Amino acid sequence: MEKVKSFKPLNLFEYEQLATKCLSQMALDYYASGAWDEVTLRDNRAAFERFKLRPRVLVDVSDRNLATKVLGQPLEMPLFIAPMAFQCLANPQGEVATARAAASAGVGMVLSTLSTKSIEEVAAVCHDTNLHTPQWFQLYIHKDRGLTRALVERAYAAGYKALCITVDAPVLGRRERDKRNEFALPVGMQLANLTTLSGLNIPHEQGESGLFTYVAEQLNPAVTWDDLEWLESLCPLPLVLKGILRGDDAARAVECGAKAIVVSNHGGRQLDGAIASLDALAEVVEAVDGRAEVLLDGGIRRGTDILKALALGAKAVLLGRPVLWGLAVAGEAGVAHAIEILRDELDVAMALSGCASVEKIDSSLLLREKHRCA
Ligand code: FNR
Ligand code: LAC
Repeated sequence: MEKVKSFKPLNLFEYEQLATKCLSQMALDYYASGAWDEVTLRDNRAAFERFKLRPRVLVDVSDRNLATKVLGQPLEMPLFIAPMAFQCLANPQGEVATARAAASAGVGMVLSTLSTKSIEEVAAVCHDTNLHTPQWFQLYIHKDRGLTRALVERAYAAGYKALCITVDAPVLGRRERDKRNEFALPVGMQLANLTTLSGLNIPHEQGESGLFTYVAEQLNPAVTWDDLEWLESLCPLPLVLKGILRGDDAARAVECGAKAIVVSNHGGRQLDGAIASLDALAEVVEAVDGRAEVLLDGGIRRGTDILKALALGAKAVLLGRPVLWGLAVAGEAGVAHAIEILRDELDVAMALSGCASVEKIDSSLLLREKHRCA
């Protein structure tokens, strides 16, 4: 453990290596795994390597500005923390530690419905510190409409700035390691937004992931575009749809009132074989045609990944697993350091490609290697 503490990771991959030593097998497998053969999980990374950069030279980059706005909300850099369930498996402060690190760095955070710290505890981080970076609430639509409405109302009352509806999980993807481990939460850990309200928790089940069963029993697989109107009527927050991979779905989302879209395959955890999120980005940006903002997640591990996503038209990106690795290694300080690494990498990448501000990042920076069919 001493060795673990004295080693300071240089990049987000080293955080992952270190985190494997700090987590229980069940938590590590839950965080790391993708669905079935994990083809999409791997392709999310490989896609970034398929895109090559065409740097501009002899541009004055002495004064660089990474700041941007998403939905009119200011960010110090084009980054949100992706919604991720059960963060107390990594550290007792869980989502509160993540929220503190995000707020201090001036990046946004999306809180999962399935968090282990409550909507109100996480919102309090911003109120207590007077740091007002955007916090969004990620909604899983439960079969119980009253419960779903109560979650939305709580998020609005607590000061969240957008409602991020995850649309790629009518059922849970099959993560085989979770099934083998009979994934469940340790004694004493609860669904902070649901247990007190409704008594719901992740069941302990033989031969099955308790989360798989929870999603099958509690979430509503019948949700369609028609339900967005109902969700919009619940509160005045802008709707963000997360988990879109097609231009036609993106166009429909805009027509249904979505103000932003997150191009995402859920970190390769839902439909294995789905395209890499980066490969879906250009099509979505084209279909949206400036009518909404487009964000991307899946495989962001380097500053150059952010640069590439922005060059393809994303306004910002969401960072997933590396946040959990930072949290597992060193709590709030680990998350803060992971964000700092990414910020520094983006800063250097922008300088080296002739972009003094994020507005200067455009599609001319990219050359896409031709796909060869094997
Ligand atoms: C997730 N993700 C997720 N998404 C969501 O909408 N609600 C959730 O509760 C969760 N929970 C969750 C848990 C864990 C452990 C992971 C790894 C992911 C998906 C997440 O928001 C995001 O789409 C991906 O994690 C992005 O990919 P990377 O950055 O992890 O490669
Ligand atoms: C997951 C769910 C909770 O990916 O979104 O584990």
